[in-house]
Amino acid sequence: MIAGRKLYRFLMTTALAGLLLSGCKRTAVEPEPPAPITIRSEASYPWGAAVTPTHLANNAPYIRTARNEYDRITPENHMKMSFIHPEPGRYDWTGSDIVANFARQNGQKLHGHTLIWHQSVPDWVLNFDGDSTAWENLFRSHIQTVVAKYRGVVSSWDVVNEAFEDDGTLRNTIWLQKLGPGYIARAFQYARETDPAALLFYNDYGQEYKPAKMRAIVALATEFRRNNIPLDGLGIQMHIELRTDDAGIATALRESASTGLLVHISELDIALNINNDKNFQPNDALFAQQARKYANVVRAYRQNVPPAQRHGITTWNVGDADSWLLWYKQAPEFPLPFDVNYERKPAYQAILDALN
Ligand code: XIL
Repeated sequence: MIAGRKLYRFLMTTALAGLLLSGCKRTAVEPEPPAPITIRSEASYPWGAAVTPTHLANNAPYIRTARNEYDRITPENHMKMSFIHPEPGRYDWTGSDIVANFARQNGQKLHGHTLIWHQSVPDWVLNFDGDSTAWENLFRSHIQTVVAKYRGVVSSWDVVNEAFEDDGTLRNTIWLQKLGPGYIARAFQYARETDPAALLFYNDYGQEYKPAKMRAIVALATEFRRNNIPLDGLGIQMHIELRTDDAGIATALRESASTGLLVHISELDIALNINNDKNFQPNDALFAQQARKYANVVRAYRQNVPPAQRHGITTWNVGDADSWLLWYKQAPEFPLPFDVNYERKPAYQAILDALN
């Protein structure tokens, strides 16, 4: 990744050298003003956000923020099965293409989310009637079709999302029921066969407060390594709140990194309205606490994940106006580094300060 300010310094030096060599002709290029300092320009690893096509279509401050602030974007919903494969044999690429084109136009990487999950399973799959071969064909062809469509476009995939319960047992999903416990490994194999260049992630939530789940994920990584199942990284969603224990965050990062795999904080947000109070109003003190919490996460990432294993940090949504938590909690929430007008909150500066 070339950081903006680093690029600016390089261009300035080159322009100056050119000026001297050309006998200081006054036609030389006028230097542009310095690029603004952003988290993205200062971070040594990719900084990202989940985005959604509706906002990318016509929300000007959202578009400006999404374009300027991120090295990589993740479609919030539009690569999930019910969106991208709504009927048997019919794929709908409309939303995912909008996100992919936005990334391409802005020179950003694209993180695919998600091939296999127990949510966002379309009705036709829930009602599918077939033997184990038919189920395996459905599963394989979904993965292969979506990965092939975005071969060379999606640089990393959440292949399987949330396959474990908090106690570390396999979640009793339709995929487990129809395909057996080997489905996770086969999903990764099908994805690798289809796009050998894409980085493949296992993604989950709660590692920071559910040690049994964290252990199950590390065990999965160990088993995959022993059996030569392709796996490049672990995603820790990190939907947290002000009272989430910092020690748990550090432990989850350290144990994920202990596998030697890439580690992605894949869906970061920090909730303020912990009781889902319908009349909740934030205040400066809460925003200051939130800023400290964001700084703690960024510092914990630096302290516990070696540089070569840092896939980066992605926030789940861009600003407080488009947070999924507004819908999920049905209550006011302000969990992101940008406010409802896409202005920087105290969290933004705190992240910048904690980067290095
Ligand atoms: C959420 C989206 O943000 C919502 O818009 C949607 O209605 C439900 O899914 N963990 C994940 C994400 O892996 O895919 C979820 O996204 C949030 C929790």
